[in-house]
Amino acid sequence: MSTPSIALLFHLVSISIFAIASSSSHRTADPTEAFLKCLGLRNHSFVPNKSTYTRRDSGYSTILNLGINNLRFTSTSTPKPLVIVTPLDESQVPPVVQCAKDVDLEIRIRSGGHDYEGLSSVSQLPFVILDLMLLRSIDIDVASRTAWVQSGAIVGELYYKIAKASPILAFPAGVCPTIGIGGHLAGGAYGTLLRKYGLGADNVIDARIVDVNGSVLDRKTMGEDLFWAVRGGGGASFGIILSWKIKLVQVPKNVTVFTVTRTLQQNATGLIYKWQNIAHKFDTNLLMRAIFNRIGAVETGDATIGVYFNSVFLGGVDKLLPLLKKSFPELGVVKEDCTEMSWAQSILNFNGFSINEPLETLQNRSINPRRYFKAKSDYVTKPIPLSAFQGIWNLFFEKEATGAVVIFTPYGGKMKDISKSAIPFPYRSGNIYSIQHLVYWSEEENAKAENYIAWMRKLYSYFGAYVSNSPRAAYINYKDLDLGQNNLGNTSYNEANNRWGADYFNGNFKRLANVKTLVDPGNFFKNELSIPLL
Ligand SMILES: Cc1cc2nc3c(=O)[nH]c(=O)nc-3n(C[C@H](O)[C@H](O)[C@H](O)COP(=O)(O)OP(=O)(O)OC[C@H]3O[C@@H](n4cnc5c(N)ncnc54)[C@H](O)[C@@H]3O)c2cc1C
Ligand SMILES: *[C@@H]1O[C@H](CO)[C@@H](O)[C@H](O)[C@H]1NC(C)=O
Ligand SMILES: *[C@@H]1O[C@H](CO)[C@@H](O)[C@H](O)[C@H]1NC(C)=O
Ligand SMILES: *[C@@H]1O[C@H](CO)[C@@H](O)[C@H](O)[C@H]1NC(C)=O
Ligand SMILES: *[C@@H]1O[C@H](CO)[C@@H](O)[C@H](O)[C@H]1NC(C)=O
Ligand SMILES: *[C@@H]1O[C@H](CO)[C@@H](O)[C@H](O)[C@H]1NC(C)=O
Ligand SMILES: *[C@@H]1O[C@H](CO)[C@@H](O)[C@H](O)[C@H]1NC(C)=O
Ligand SMILES: *[C@@H]1O[C@H](CO)[C@@H](O)[C@H](O)[C@H]1NC(C)=O
Repeated sequence: MSTPSIALLFHLVSISIFAIASSSSHRTADPTEAFLKCLGLRNHSFVPNKSTYTRRDSGYSTILNLGINNLRFTSTSTPKPLVIVTPLDESQVPPVVQCAKDVDLEIRIRSGGHDYEGLSSVSQLPFVILDLMLLRSIDIDVASRTAWVQSGAIVGELYYKIAKASPILAFPAGVCPTIGIGGHLAGGAYGTLLRKYGLGADNVIDARIVDVNGSVLDRKTMGEDLFWAVRGGGGASFGIILSWKIKLVQVPKNVTVFTVTRTLQQNATGLIYKWQNIAHKFDTNLLMRAIFNRIGAVETGDATIGVYFNSVFLGGVDKLLPLLKKSFPELGVVKEDCTEMSWAQSILNFNGFSINEPLETLQNRSINPRRYFKAKSDYVTKPIPLSAFQGIWNLFFEKEATGAVVIFTPYGGKMKDISKSAIPFPYRSGNIYSIQHLVYWSEEENAKAENYIAWMRKLYSYFGAYVSNSPRAAYINYKDLDLGQNNLGNTSYNEANNRWGADYFNGNFKRLANVKTLVDPGNFFKNELSIPLL
């Protein structure tokens, strides 16, 4: 870790090299050449087609597309970067910032590439991608129950390494193993442990960041305001997170997993209605999601809705069953529905793998087929009335909803105990569950992508009467440009606050803008949803 004096020294050295670089690069008309020349002057250890990729390098398209999870942003009409830089060492990150500034290029920071709106891979202005996928070391200290994780690691690698180090430790982040640690923790990060331990960002205790001047800062040198902002304020507004120090949490050696499905004919509507009233009050060891989609074909009249009560309990089946019998007997869960397994194995189970799947699969970056999709989010403060569900089901019988799915995740527990301003993520007490709305479509259907997006907007509009409003709460890790966006960085604080700013951050938006103004007064780190200057 860098001490302030080393950071300062590095900074001074960079400035002097910077001066030479800028005078020469400005004579080179081609920005790609100017950028590479700047990098080369600064540090000769960048290697073409290994740590820098231009459109001439044969690896360019592979590297570019590898890091775009939502296939909507792989089309030929999507703007492409001039250069992709994949640093082999942390010391290569500051020069990328300085050279992008020097040559006047936008920078897109990419860790796992799971951004819903492709913001880690696309810009409307000439840009470079800084892809951190090769910076992925994970250091676990079982004795202190902490770990340092580099941004380019995926959460599956983290879960795997923790499980190998200790059978009773885990980390409360997302369910999908391929999400990147860098962007994920910067936006909050929730998963099956949220009711017991809160968000991933609630469990971050230190971070290393490269600021706009190319200085490497840690919690002590960045100060508490910036440290507050990076834990949930969304990636890419304040600097480049190199690594996070996280607090590990305790889980039993075995947890119990079950998923029971109920169709409309099996009282799915009554059950999901009741779920809303109780899931946020369950014992904090129990997380029960309610997920629904259409099953069966509409044309043959076989279509129905399946509601999946997808659950994990931090304890044995013997303790779980009495608890369910008392609070949710109508669901009818029996012992045969339940399987005990390690927490890490439960993550594989939640991703559709059997109990025999080797834990190593958590480290595999290509387990989830990448797809085309549009998503939105909501928060719910009081149960949706029983009568409103029919309208939702009707929308799911429309043809665009073949690949649609909605996920309700219960809050309560630790989520309600953490203050709304502890970190930028504001949706705590008062919220009984969160909603994720998703619609997927296939490559063949992509010519009609607009129809699926329009269907998603219709669903969102229908939900509008029943969910939080003024602001209509949304989750920054489920980015949705329909809520509004910066006009190439020119949107004022007030304009942004009236639209997406309050939706994602509610009462914390102003403090975020304050921090932004202090640490990046030139608004270098900007994108469609970055925090504006005050
Ligand atoms: C299939 C899938 C499943 C998901 N499941 C969950 C879930 O269970 N729980 C949950 O909370 N979320 C979930 N998400 C959402 C996920 O948390 C966000 O998409 C998150 O931002 C992804 O981080 P990333 O590093 O993979 O993305 P990227 O696309 O690399 O980055 C996302 C944003 O952060 C910025 N950024 C990336 N790295 C850095 C860095 N090192 N420093 C500064 N800024 C950076 C990017 O520029 C971009 O703006 C899921 C997403 C997908 C696609
Ligand atoms: C250049 O990069 C190497 C490793 O990639 C690093 O050790 C060295 O400190 C860097 N030099 C400068 C001047 O940044
Ligand atoms: C360039 O890199 C890609 C992937 O990183 C690799 O597949 C390809 O063989 C490399 N090409 C050359 C000429 O080294
Ligand atoms: C359906 O579920 C609700 C809520 O759990 C319950 O009150 C109702 O009795 C159930 N109806 C039938 C027909 O089982
Ligand atoms: C955990 O569950 C597995 C699989 O069901 C079982 O074989 C194992 O004995 C259990 N371990 C403990 C410590 O309960
Ligand atoms: C990772 O998963 C993909 C898709 O299932 C599979 O094709 C590939 O072989 C796996 N890689 C490893 C190293 O297991
Ligand atoms: C944004 O503002 C800058 C200067 O402040 C101006 O040059 C530019 O044209 C503006 N862009 C848009 C899209 O309004
Ligand atoms: C960055 O550098 C500028 C100019 O040297 C300085 O004024 C500013 O305080 C620095 N910013 C930070 C966050 O250190």
